Formats: sequence, C-alpha cells, structure tokens
Amino acid sequence: MKPLTGKTIVLGISGGIAAYKAATLCSRLVSWGASVRVIMTEGATRFITPLTLQTLSRHPVATDVFDERDAAVVQHIDWADAADLVIVAPATANVIGKMANGIADDMLTTTLLAATAPIIVAPAMNVHMWEHPAVIENVNKLAARGVRFVEPGTGQLACGYVGKGRLAEPEEIAEAAAAWLTGPRPLAGRKVLVTAGGTVERIDPVRYITNDSSGKMGFALAEAARDYGAEVTLICAKTDEKPPGGVEVVRVQSAADMHEAVLRRLGAVDAVVKAAAVADYRPAVRHDAKIKKSGETLTLELVRNPDILQAIGEWKEAHPGERAPFTIGFAAETGDLEKYATDKLARKKCDLIVANDVSQPGAGFGTDTNIASVFGPEGLVESIPLSAKRQVAERIWQLAAERMNRA
Ligand code: CTP
Repeated sequence: MKPLTGKTIVLGISGGIAAYKAATLCSRLVSWGASVRVIMTEGATRFITPLTLQTLSRHPVATDVFDERDAAVVQHIDWADAADLVIVAPATANVIGKMANGIADDMLTTTLLAATAPIIVAPAMNVHMWEHPAVIENVNKLAARGVRFVEPGTGQLACGYVGKGRLAEPEEIAEAAAAWLTGPRPLAGRKVLVTAGGTVERIDPVRYITNDSSGKMGFALAEAARDYGAEVTLICAKTDEKPPGGVEVVRVQSAADMHEAVLRRLGAVDAVVKAAAVADYRPAVRHDAKIKKSGETLTLELVRNPDILQAIGEWKEAHPGERAPFTIGFAAETGDLEKYATDKLARKKCDLIVANDVSQPGAGFGTDTNIASVFGPEGLVESIPLSAKRQVAERIWQLAAERMNRA
C-alpha cells in the first residue's frame, strides 16, 4: 500500500519563486496516495498557475476565500477540518509573519487559522530575510506552538545571493510529511523539557568557566521527542550546534539561569531530561569590570551551584498533587558506571539515569555517537551499544514513554 493512502493533506503555496517546486511536492504526495487540496496565495499564482496544481492534485485549487463553489459547505473550514496535515511550501516571510500573529486575510491564512491538524512549514526567502530578528521571532513563536519547520537549505538563491534560504528539496518535505503522518508517536500529546549544552559561569565580563559539552545529545533528544509527537521546550546553555527546528528554544547561560528556567516550568510538563552539563561550582564573585593582573598568582573562590535535577526531585515531593514530570538524568563517568549512576538516580530521585563512560571512544562530549547504559530504580534497564546520538535518543524516549504510560 502507498504510505499516505487515506490521508488528506492541505498544501498551501505562497508567493515566492520556489512556488514552482511545490508542483513536484504535490505530485510526490499524490503518488504516495495522499488526497491533496492545494491553496495558493495571490502571489503564488504569479509564479505558477493554479491549473498546474489542479492537474497534479486532481482537485480544484483554492485561491479566493470568497469563491465559495459548494453551497453546502464553507470551504476554508471544510478543508481545515478534512486535513490530517497542512504543509506550507514555500512559506514566505510574509505568510510566516501572518501565521505567527494570527492574521487571516486570504484563503491560505484563513484555513491555517481554522486548522487543528499539525502544520509543517518549509520556508524560502533571501538569506537576510531568513536571518531578520522579526522572522526569527515569528519562527520561534510558531515552533513553540508545535509547528514543525523543514529548514531551508544553503546555496545559490534566486535573488543572486549565496546563503541560507533555499526551499528544502520537495523530497525532504514529503518525507517529513510522511514521517509525521505514519511514524511512531509514543509522545503524542506530551510536553517535554530538554536541557542541553554546557553552562557558562562568568568570572568577569570577558572570562568564564564552562565545559566541553557540545549539546549534541540534548539536541538529539529534543529532535526525537518532537518527531515522536511531543511539544518540546529546549533550555539551551552554551553550544556551537544549531538547535533543531520545531521546538521552543530558551537560551540560558549559567546554572542559576537554567535552574530558574526549569523550575518555572514544573507543573506544566510531562517529562524533563537533564542532558545539560551543569557546572557544579561558580565563581563566588562575578566582577563587573575586567580583572586586571596584579600578583604572580590569582586565587578564584568557587561556590556550589544549585543541583537542578535534585531540585526537581524535591519539587515532586513537595507537590504531590501536581503533574509530576518523569525525570531523566545523565551521568558522564570515567569508570564505576553502575555505582555512580544508581547513586545519582537515588540521590536526585529521577526515574531513569542515562550513564555513559566518556573515556570510551565514541561516547560522550562532542561525538556524533554515544554508548549508554540506562538505569531505573530496579537497576540496569538496557545497554545501548555504540549508535548515533539520534538513535540513542529514540531508544531513551521509547523506554521513558513505556514507563510514563504505565504510570
Ligand atoms: N545536574 C544538575 N545540576 C547540577 C549538576 C548536575 O541538574 N548542578 C544534573 C546533570 O544535568 C545530570 C545529572 O545531574 O543530568 C548528573 O550530573 P553529574 O555532573 O554527573 O552529577 P553530579 O551530581 O554533579 O556528580 P559528580 O559531579 O560528583 O559526578
């Protein structure tokens, strides 16, 4: 059977030069069995004709919200209700801005506002537009609402620039749609909080203490949770990696910032993953001005940071009637994995601890792979052999979802 048989997809095309690529996308979705209803903005019809899309989708194309052909239904509501998924490709900066702000002034944006189905947005625009703070803010706003982005690619843009902004390949968008509609969704309806990266503890305005965490494992967990259907908030400390699309990103610096950001969200999330490398100590004094050199030695006094994972455990005990998040901790060790991991699990009252021996090749900081042992209150739950961090993340979520459902 074709993978999208029985699925109805509303494909919204907005007015950018990449609109012509939407024809390939439409044709691919139809060939995978989907029933595709195309809506084009006025601008899109300047780049490609509705007749092309009508022929490919084998349905009339909607362009005008007032052009009601069937008196029995209100078309934008009817299509919004029928959709299993809405795709906007290409999405211009304008349509993204309208979506983020709830503006409904044409057939596409009105249908988007009426739709309760998941939405995939594939942006395409000039690199400076894509990097404009207004667009970034709009994208983050939509991501926080659960809109999934298929990020634009980098290359030669139609405007002559080379940079990021080129519509993702139709194949990639079709695959994201198929994954969304047919993939496993063990976290559907769940809200999860993932922390990632290494905290930054400031000494003075130009110096700080941090660690080698790359953020890759946390990002893989956020991405896997998103694909498993969760609404994801990623609390992100220092990292050089780009966070995944389709998740709400909250930037923090220090352990104290992260502590505040996590605790503020407790009671409203179903799971918390502490993949961040949190500094255990911070400088006792944060100097407002750059420290000038003086003597031959300099002693820096450090004081203990709050233990965030432990604070979550304490919060759960202090709020028995509230929505208690399933907590997953991490333990990066260089030996005695089981002893340290089970000790941390008990001390920090988490539901699962993912331990890795960072001295092993292919495990730990900076790598794209990991080797992990997952411990629960009963002891070793599973040893995950050397795998891509994304695969490790999927397995962790599968184990967590089973336990969350049981509880
Ligand atoms: N953690 C935390 N807050 C801290 C320190 C650690 O939330 N201040 C979390 C980490 O994010 C991780 C888990 O606790 O999920 C274990 O971190 P780790 O540094 O291995 O544990 P520590 O308790 O700091 O133990 P030690 O450094 O002595 O090994």
